[in-house]
Amino acid sequence: MRTALLENGFFWTTHLILYYAASSIADSVYTRMNQLRTKRDLPGIHSVAMNREIWRSWDWESGGEEWTPSVEWKKSLTDSVLLKYMTKGGRILEVGPGAGRWTETLQKIAGHLIAIDISDRCIEICKRKFAGCDNAEFLVSNGSEVPLVEDDSIDSIWSFDVFVHINAPEAGEYVKEFKRVLRAGGHAAIHHGQDGGVHGGWRSNLTSKTFRAILEANGFRILTQFAEWRDGEQVFKISQYGDLLTVFENPG
Ligand SMILES: C[S@@+](CC[C@H](N)C(=O)[O-])C[C@H]1O[C@@H](n2cnc3c(N)ncnc32)[C@H](O)[C@@H]1O
Repeated sequence: MRTALLENGFFWTTHLILYYAASSIADSVYTRMNQLRTKRDLPGIHSVAMNREIWRSWDWESGGEEWTPSVEWKKSLTDSVLLKYMTKGGRILEVGPGAGRWTETLQKIAGHLIAIDISDRCIEICKRKFAGCDNAEFLVSNGSEVPLVEDDSIDSIWSFDVFVHINAPEAGEYVKEFKRVLRAGGHAAIHHGQDGGVHGGWRSNLTSKTFRAILEANGFRILTQFAEWRDGEQVFKISQYGDLLTVFENPG
């Protein structure tokens, strides 16, 4: 602080001290809120109603790219993960497209794409963005069900940056729906939190352990679960909060 004071003066350094104090208070309050949520079994900001409200009023001006850490990261996630597990020419289901950050690629490779979102605003944005695409349909979901999709009719399911915001009970309902709609041999790739937000990021209470248990209870076979992947010389992380991506298969 002495150097900061000498180089920047009293007024600026006071603001620096305030900044550190406010950050430290924010961190403590976040930790306390997370503890209270667990202790009292509260939904926090991740109930169906809160998710609907938050994402309906989100500023979608940047199209969700505010969550893309780098162009290289997005390209690698697309090439090494999305394209690896989604069936080209197949019927693909996306949960929570937002403004279509991954939908652009999914729509290009799918024979037919169905994207569902709890936010009617996101569905409107996607309908406008993909207006000329006759292989894509966009539906509002109630937050735990896959509407209007027939049993055993889907080849692949993709969801990124969505289950990190969905609490365990609704995630459990979605997994039941995945079991209903995914054909035998079909794959799903779902990004979710690891530790219920202990390491920040406003994550839901869905942990990797719970998600694994839900999948196994519903008869899915887990193929891989990872927090980072290698692409040539580079190693990329799913997110800065230790999130995971789980790929699973319906063994039938
Ligand atoms: C952080 S945004 C991510 C959007 C997009 N997947 C992306 O990566 O850019 C979260 C998205 O999940 C959707 N969402 C949240 N809870 C949901 C739920 N229970 N069912 C379906 N969509 C949900 C939101 O409406 C929003 O579009």
